[in-house]
Amino acid sequence: MSRPTRAIVTEVGPRDGFQMEAEFIPTETKIRLVNDLIHAGVPRIEFSSFVSPRAVPQLADVLDVLAGLDRSRGTVLTALVPNAKGAARAAEAGVDEITVFVSASESHNHKNVNRSVDDSLSGFEEVARIAADAGIPVHGAIATAFGCPFEGDVALEAVGRIVERYVALGFVGVSLGDTTGMATPRLVTTLCRYLQDRFSELPLGLHFHNTRGIGLCNVMAGLDESIDAYEGSFGGIGGCPFAPGATGNICTEDLVYLLHEMDIDTGIDLDALCAIAREVEQVVHRPLPGQVMKAGPRLKLHPLEGVETAVG
Ligand code: COA
Ligand code: ZN
Repeated sequence: MSRPTRAIVTEVGPRDGFQMEAEFIPTETKIRLVNDLIHAGVPRIEFSSFVSPRAVPQLADVLDVLAGLDRSRGTVLTALVPNAKGAARAAEAGVDEITVFVSASESHNHKNVNRSVDDSLSGFEEVARIAADAGIPVHGAIATAFGCPFEGDVALEAVGRIVERYVALGFVGVSLGDTTGMATPRLVTTLCRYLQDRFSELPLGLHFHNTRGIGLCNVMAGLDESIDAYEGSFGGIGGCPFAPGATGNICTEDLVYLLHEMDIDTGIDLDALCAIAREVEQVVHRPLPGQVMKAGPRLKLHPLEGVETAVG
């Protein structure tokens, strides 16, 4: 397996990050941040979700957000959708892509969308029809793919079974979600190989949370398996409100920094991304875990003057 030379980075902060925020973020602020991401060259953005506004009030303004976004750059604007109702709303709104989601474990799926895995999957048939009628591609996300906070280890077959359904429904890609940061490099290698052996043509993406501090190690494991699609959130905010202990995604700027330092092109302006992450810090009124947003890239040098010399 060879590492890719180019990677597609998806920014999920406006959805995965903001959905956790208790205080409502003004719609204009969301629009400004997503447009800044578009102008920084991010190729794909999960900008919001079409879920029940009672389940996730923070994202109830999805229609207004979409209406304010700059569509001129060809950025793929995808929205998370749990069911046919969400797909119909997303299609009518004119998103570029629909991302459906189901958990690989029953208990997390029940907590997240109040139904069994099979019921979610059956519902996706109608989602696929609605999307096909509207000419909108569908991407399939799988939550708790590397472990479930209620059930522990998730069997490879449980993930494989969902991927099989996604492929049968004609979905354009699949992302493996590590909802509560339970992935390890070894698990990443094992699951990627398992799926690549069975679905060799399927574009696979990885969505890690940095809950246990090894999110970027998991990215390295994915790169070694030739995976070229990764999701992150600005400043590293994020988490699932329906999973205990869920914390932020891997940080997009740190991810992009790592990729660029490995000569893996993303087309993203890292300095612009860091500026956006610092702005997100202002918006949520607390320090975020991102590192490169604070330190800058390694060759951001400092003037000699003004730094004291240690004398004994
Ligand atoms: N968009 C907007 N409203 C929706 C909707 C959607 N996609 N799906 C259902 N609703 C509305 C229904 O119309 C109904 O409204 P009403 O009571 O005013 O008639 C209400 O929500 C309940 O619908 P029902 O189908 O019975 O859903 P439920 O109560 O079993 O909840 C979900 C199921 C999927 C709608 C809800 O659990 C949900 O939105 N979960 C999303 C969680 C999430 O975003 N997690 C983050 C990802 S990690
Ligand atoms: Zn997530």
